[in-house]
Amino acid sequence: MLTQVKPLRLPISNGNFKNNEVVLDTPVVLAPMAGITNAAFRRLCREQGAGLFVSEMVTARALIERREETFRLIKPGVGETPRSIQLYAVDPVVLGKAVDLLGSENLADHIDLNFGCPVPKVTRRGGGAALPYKRRLFSAIVEAAITAASKYGIPVTVKMRVGIDSDHQTFLESAKSAADLGVAWVALHARTAAQLYEGKSDWSKITELVEHLAPTGVPVLGNGDIWSGLDAINMISQTGCAGVVVGRGCLGRPWLFADLVAAFNGEQSRVNPNLFEVRKVMLRHGQLLVEYFENEDRAMRNIRKHMAWYLKGFSVPREIRSSLGMVSSLDEMEKLLSGVSDQPYPQAVGDAPRGRSSHGRPVSLPDGWLNDPDEFATITIDDAISGG
Ligand SMILES: Cc1cc2nc3c(=O)[nH]c(=O)nc-3n(C[C@H](O)[C@H](O)[C@H](O)COP(=O)(O)O)c2cc1C
Repeated sequence: MLTQVKPLRLPISNGNFKNNEVVLDTPVVLAPMAGITNAAFRRLCREQGAGLFVSEMVTARALIERREETFRLIKPGVGETPRSIQLYAVDPVVLGKAVDLLGSENLADHIDLNFGCPVPKVTRRGGGAALPYKRRLFSAIVEAAITAASKYGIPVTVKMRVGIDSDHQTFLESAKSAADLGVAWVALHARTAAQLYEGKSDWSKITELVEHLAPTGVPVLGNGDIWSGLDAINMISQTGCAGVVVGRGCLGRPWLFADLVAAFNGEQSRVNPNLFEVRKVMLRHGQLLVEYFENEDRAMRNIRKHMAWYLKGFSVPREIRSSLGMVSSLDEMEKLLSGVSDQPYPQAVGDAPRGRSSHGRPVSLPDGWLNDPDEFATITIDDAISGG
């Protein structure tokens, strides 16, 4: 392991782990991504290397209402441990109940709280990345989660953006308050909500946060624009963060986790599968999704969006590409993929940004939201949101 990289320790004392902790030798976390990081995709990533793999986000309210789909979303994959669940909440009482449910029914080993969602229908109500601006509500939410989770020995972490926009940066204050309340780490996506996914994330914000939280001893995980193992090493050496959170870089490239492990071990060689190897991963992904959804139609609808990511940069006939984007069965997928010819991994294109890259725009907020950060805001609607 490179000297600047230390194992990341997550204290979990719910009786499921030796020495009451999980040690991530490679300090890498799969970012929660709604619609992507289901148990099937997490398994593909897990098989590639060490790390922690966070579920798709679920809302605390849906959990306490015991919605069937929500329970499927939090169901761990085969052999999945630790079970890491991301929750979204805007109401401390609802969140406390949701965490209590997860703890008392032994459904989670780690809970991450999402404060980074930039979607207008969420921020317009004061949720997601808008919420930390109301510092009292933010603290109450984190405290409710920690109070409930500590009864069951489950660590709580938070994931946030830099703030609403460059004039309303909340990360230093809210991260410090979360650290003082006892979170196990703070993950920072180094963009504001106004930036959405525009341009390059500003890793200097991660450095600032590392320095700001140093007196608390709470680790900072850096997030934003890790497309290769080398990017992760660079982020850690530039910012001093304790680990990295990887999102879009592994879309269509679950083997990025193997590349990350190799890079952290100081190996020079890259993990670059040829097209036939990629084809195998695609078919396995499809099979795992069928098992996960117990429904081939839903599985195929889910995997369609992954096709372009898997094939990015490879030379594949246009008809095969477009048919894969509408594929409706595993058999059809296999037949279509039998029409591609083997070729080396197109590394330059493979390491290029992929997934969302939306341009920034002003953040929609409730009327008067920015008037008083000390107001104890209440938000009642916490439903129908999808990721950050
Ligand atoms: C499709 C998609 C869904 C996402 N869903 C969530 C989510 O549910 N919760 C969350 O905290 N972040 C979510 N994110 C944000 C990512 O976790 C991550 O912070 C962001 O993509 C930046 O990291 P990256 O540059 O490595 O992709 C999502 C991102 C994408 C692209």
